[in-house]
Amino acid sequence: MIECKNIGKTYKSGDDVETQALKSVSFLIKDGEFVAITGPSGSGKSTLMHIIGCLDTPTSGQYFLDGKDVSKLSDDELADIRMQKIGFVFQAFNLLPRTAVLRNVMLPLIYAGESETEREEKAKQALRASAFPEGFWNHHSNQLSGGMMQRVAIARALVNDPTLVLADEPTGNLDTKTGEIVLDTFQRLHAEHGRTIVLITHEQYVAEHAERIIHIRDGDVIDDGRVKSRRIADHAP
Ligand SMILES: Nc1ncnc2c1ncn2[C@@H]1O[C@H](COP(=O)(O)OP(=O)(O)OP(=O)(O)O)[C@@H](O)[C@H]1O
Ligand SMILES: [Mg+2]
Repeated sequence: MIECKNIGKTYKSGDDVETQALKSVSFLIKDGEFVAITGPSGSGKSTLMHIIGCLDTPTSGQYFLDGKDVSKLSDDELADIRMQKIGFVFQAFNLLPRTAVLRNVMLPLIYAGESETEREEKAKQALRASAFPEGFWNHHSNQLSGGMMQRVAIARALVNDPTLVLADEPTGNLDTKTGEIVLDTFQRLHAEHGRTIVLITHEQYVAEHAERIIHIRDGDVIDDGRVKSRRIADHAP
């Protein structure tokens, strides 16, 4: 469970320049929810994702992840939590080129101290969960379409069996049709695998694929509610 209590984040660049990216953000996300965070460019979405994802800490307020206050942990402690609980998907797929799909997905497990066979088995499970076609598992990532690359990135995010999947503009580099494939993947992960999913997007249309939308503007939550007529990704397999 995610609990943000009056979270603020001020960036300091140089000596005197301060940017208040988040003012006082509060909300609660229960296990298994599929939530979209939306808002215009510069509203603080990525900043919030970095905090929720334990990539950064707030400058004020508290952040509880599964009941533990993680807002004041050290970088090493945050890294441990990320490895145990969180999977990330970004707009740029960030895959290693000229490297097989399977290898790309195994990568986050390098530090987990597991055998090659165990890592490979986990990677295969994650690729199945992200609906990535088996015929392409040994292809190099740079030989794939954008939608397929993003599904590899989703599989990579799933490989450590995270309870929370965080995606920042995962359809941002994709055309509408390919974006639907990726949104379909998230909807399945939520419906069939019960993952908690937080999807960041500036597009209302994309956000409506979630169950609930938290709308932020100028670093504050301005609206938070269930999606009335939820969109189901239009994807013919
Ligand atoms: N590392 C940083 N240092 C200084 N200012 C930053 C930093 N990261 C973000 N900001 C500023 O914080 C504010 C919020 O940025 P953020 O990236 O969270 O917005 P966003 O909603 O994700 O925007 P976009 O839709 O364009 O990705 C902006 O004014 C931005 O310029
Ligand atoms: Mg952003």
